Amino acid sequence: MYRFIIKGGKELSGKVKVSGSKNAALPLIAASLLAKGRTILHNVPDLKDIQTMLKVVHTLGPIFHFENNKIIIDTTHIKSHVAPYELVKTMRASIYVLGPLLARVGKAKVSLPGGCAIGPRPINFHIEAMKKLGARISIKEGFVHARTSKLKGAEIYFEKVSVGATANVLMASVLARGKTVIKDAALEPEIGNLITFLKKMGADIQGKDTDTIIVNGVDNLKPVEYTVIPDRIEAGTFILAGVITRSNITVENIHPTHIRSLIDVLERMNIKLKVTDDSVKIRSCSDIRPIDIKTAPYPGFPTDLQPQLGAVLAAVPGISVINETIFENRYTHVPELIRMGSDIDVEDHIAIIRGKKRLTGAPVMASDLRGGAALVLAALAAKGESVIQRVYHIDRGYEKIESKLKNLGARIERVKN
Ligand code: UD1
Repeated sequence: MYRFIIKGGKELSGKVKVSGSKNAALPLIAASLLAKGRTILHNVPDLKDIQTMLKVVHTLGPIFHFENNKIIIDTTHIKSHVAPYELVKTMRASIYVLGPLLARVGKAKVSLPGGCAIGPRPINFHIEAMKKLGARISIKEGFVHARTSKLKGAEIYFEKVSVGATANVLMASVLARGKTVIKDAALEPEIGNLITFLKKMGADIQGKDTDTIIVNGVDNLKPVEYTVIPDRIEAGTFILAGVITRSNITVENIHPTHIRSLIDVLERMNIKLKVTDDSVKIRSCSDIRPIDIKTAPYPGFPTDLQPQLGAVLAAVPGISVINETIFENRYTHVPELIRMGSDIDVEDHIAIIRGKKRLTGAPVMASDLRGGAALVLAALAAKGESVIQRVYHIDRGYEKIESKLKNLGARIERVKN
């Protein structure tokens, strides 16, 4: 167990390079199960969630090597179809093996993920979709049991846009018999990344970056070598670190088109940016204005940047309002921000933020990944020292966060408890 000690109030400077996307890499690791042989992935962030997904895949038989942000997975042999509770309970994205296992070996037993810090996160869309594709599914003793002789193409639509369910259906349908149409598909760049990867493997998919995806099943896929896209949420978090400390930093190695909604919000807040093909530089952030925003599926404002933007708004004088429309309980970091001097009221999914000129350092505790990142941002700008406990939440999604922040001049130390 580690904690961060951050001495705030220091302007940052320089450049920071963003790592590969965790949420884009996770389905690719699962999708490697679809073809026999060696899949090679580049630009994979070295994070706990990635290690967990590799362990899940390894318990099914494949072997892997992960070094210097490169993964080699050999999926020649599948010996098990069981994703155990001990792993799945630590990471919900383990459900991604459901589709590939059904497609490759016709059976899967995947633990139900259980509770989650940001609210109830059911997997009913995944299960209903697999049923439509012809799987027989039962829930017994905490596991999803799924079987099929061969998946069949179907028309799939979801009640709500779902990144995970769209990815799972894609991975299941590429080897199904016939045509699958996914309506109201998620448009997130991580889905586009998965589609490009699957097409490279030989899948027949049309409609990338649209909400109607058509998959014509093929008999076989081949393993490929592929580079994961940059992490748009890490990119956004560093840009917001620059904004909250009023620093002219440059965030590099990114696809600015993937954070268009954040760029729009910052411009509406009167922040001046220089955007190139692969970087965003903060040119000036004086006279920042408060703002009202609501989270939405891509291309809307991402729920995964809502806590970090909230921390920034807590330090922008005036009243800002956030409407969280994706998850039910995504304000668990707010009581901690209040301990740092913020004035925020939360009612249901709405947060009313009465921004202050300055936050103050305090001992606080991270309770989830992005909420933890929000506390880091608040601490960087706050007057005095903050101690952030439960850094393991933050480590799930940010590769080498303290060394990247230190390179920008932040006073942050990782200390063992
Ligand atoms: C993914 C991201 C997560 C991000 C979220 C929304 C990964 C590993 N995680 O999560 O960081 O915050 O997208 O952008 O990529 N829902 C159901 N039933 C289901 C599935 C989802 O009701 O079977 C609901 C969820 O509770 C939520 C909404 O649909 O309200 C969207 O969730 P979804 O897009 O599926 O999120 P994840 O894929 O779990």
